[in-house]
Amino acid sequence: MEKVLFVNCCIRRDASRTKKLADLFLKELEKKGTYEIEELCLMDEALINMTEGYFHQRDALLANKDFSHPRFHYAHAFAKADKIVVAAPFWDLSFPALLKTYIENLCVEGITFGCNEQGCVGTCKANHMVYVTTRGGFYQGSPMEMGSRYMEAMSQFFGIEKYDCIFAEGLDMGLRPVEVIIEEAAEKGKEIAIAF
Ligand SMILES: Cc1cc2nc3c(=O)[nH]c(=O)nc-3n(C[C@H](O)[C@H](O)[C@H](O)COP(=O)(O)O)c2cc1C
Repeated sequence: MEKVLFVNCCIRRDASRTKKLADLFLKELEKKGTYEIEELCLMDEALINMTEGYFHQRDALLANKDFSHPRFHYAHAFAKADKIVVAAPFWDLSFPALLKTYIENLCVEGITFGCNEQGCVGTCKANHMVYVTTRGGFYQGSPMEMGSRYMEAMSQFFGIEKYDCIFAEGLDMGLRPVEVIIEEAAEKGKEIAIAF
């Protein structure tokens, strides 16, 4: 069984359309019967922002190459997963700050990436990251869309070769029924699940 880490940043929980879309994708993965899915619900985590003291603690631990501190457990879990699925709504042209705080906790030299004379190299085991998002307006392909584009760059940074985004957009425009838009996005998700 391959381990899938599902990072849930769907702030509105059961009311979240992004969560609905992510669940449809995860159901496709479950059907394959080859994955063990572990959910990390960021809303239930006591994530800490990189304020001064927290930053200095990290510096001191890294100087001693002490990677056993509990604050690094997010980075260890991410680094050893076989596949990554992240779900977050499109907020203020990217995603909720909670996801950025989580990413800051993941970026640990010596766990998720390493550096040499050429620069930084990702050291995560996963070979595929899927990002699931829903947007109120239409931003796909626009330079103003900085959620999926950022996650794709992070995926590359962590050394994860393959990246896909499952998105549904225009959900708050009132132009088409939300359920239909989600269903169409889920169909694209099915194709991604086959190649996952
Ligand atoms: C705080 C906040 C910020 C948002 N910012 C944007 C935005 O910049 N562009 C946009 O198209 N929609 C924006 N939306 C709308 C959401 O992207 C849209 O409703 C999405 O489907 C919400 O996902 P959810 O149902 O999973 O919570 C925002 C919504 C909230 C609550």
